Amino acid sequence: MPLPTIEWEGGVNGRVRLIDQTLLPNELKYVYCDDTKSIWHAIKTLMVRGAPAIGIAGAMGVVLGVKEIQAKDADAFLKELKRVTIYLGSSRPTAVNLFWGLARMERVAQENKDNSVQEIKEILLQEAIKIENEDKAICRQIGENGAGLIKDNNGVLTHCNAGGLATADYGTALAVMFKAKEQGKRFKVFADETRPLLQGSRLTAWELMQAGIDVTLICDNMAAHVMKQGKVQCVIVGADRIAANGDTANKIGTYGVSILAKEHGIPFYVAAPVSTFDLSIKSGNDIPIEERSPEEVTNGFGKRTAPEGVKVFNPAFDVTPAKNIAAIITEKGIIKNPSVENIQRVLGNHVS
Ligand code: MRU
Repeated sequence: MPLPTIEWEGGVNGRVRLIDQTLLPNELKYVYCDDTKSIWHAIKTLMVRGAPAIGIAGAMGVVLGVKEIQAKDADAFLKELKRVTIYLGSSRPTAVNLFWGLARMERVAQENKDNSVQEIKEILLQEAIKIENEDKAICRQIGENGAGLIKDNNGVLTHCNAGGLATADYGTALAVMFKAKEQGKRFKVFADETRPLLQGSRLTAWELMQAGIDVTLICDNMAAHVMKQGKVQCVIVGADRIAANGDTANKIGTYGVSILAKEHGIPFYVAAPVSTFDLSIKSGNDIPIEERSPEEVTNGFGKRTAPEGVKVFNPAFDVTPAKNIAAIITEKGIIKNPSVENIQRVLGNHVS
């Protein structure tokens, strides 16, 4: 049984329990969030991370936020709720799942505003739990839809962590690998370590080893060499936001991997739920890219590795153009050669 990344404990006055991913793989520890401030902090500091998991954390954060609302009528309640969603949305800008989760919670509150405040709180809790349960099913469907892309004896390269830890459980890119393994396929995975926060080595390598999948850790700058040696037959990564034309934001370094894959004639796949699509933006140029603190680069994991006072640029994501992507694997099916038309054909009437 996979470990639950994030869960609600108790009733409307309950709390969120999540795995503190900053401590993995050395320590498996849960943290508890009782209020919006603590879940905002957990998202910001990457205790909980990965686009779908952030979406769930945001939805549960709303339930924590409404615990504190004293409003007597629905209109006052909705106003306060807006304050909560704006606050939670300020934690991280790139993964659209956060804003999707917050908007869904607001929509449900609005649709139920004829109920008492207490009833709306209860409905919001049920909605957050529903979002988490849906994500579990979606991840399994992504695995099911994508597993055929991995062939026997393939080498598969992945970047960052799009595993169970980045979702309710089971993952997106890793779901494809988990499913291929369940189908009895033999393949090897190369996990980029993913500078500067090492999600690839700390989380992906850990998850794949636990699943009994043959994984080899490489530094990010080794991917070209490994591809040239003919060890990689496909790349599968996750996504944080996919624009209407298929341009895809994912962890910094993903764009470079896509160029390397193109140069070596290797198909580059993205695995993501429909909630990661932002059809309100035309292209990747409109995706906000989070910049994080210089210390993540100069003082990674407690050791200073750069001269004091050096200038640092630390974008957390980059955008892979749709032309570098062979297909996007979603729960609704595989979108080959992503483009406005091909995305709309598979997604239908999805509302961002
Ligand atoms: O900064 P992070 O660790 O939240 O970045 C995560 C990624 O880039 C993942 O690849 C992406 O969110 C997909 S998770 C299924």
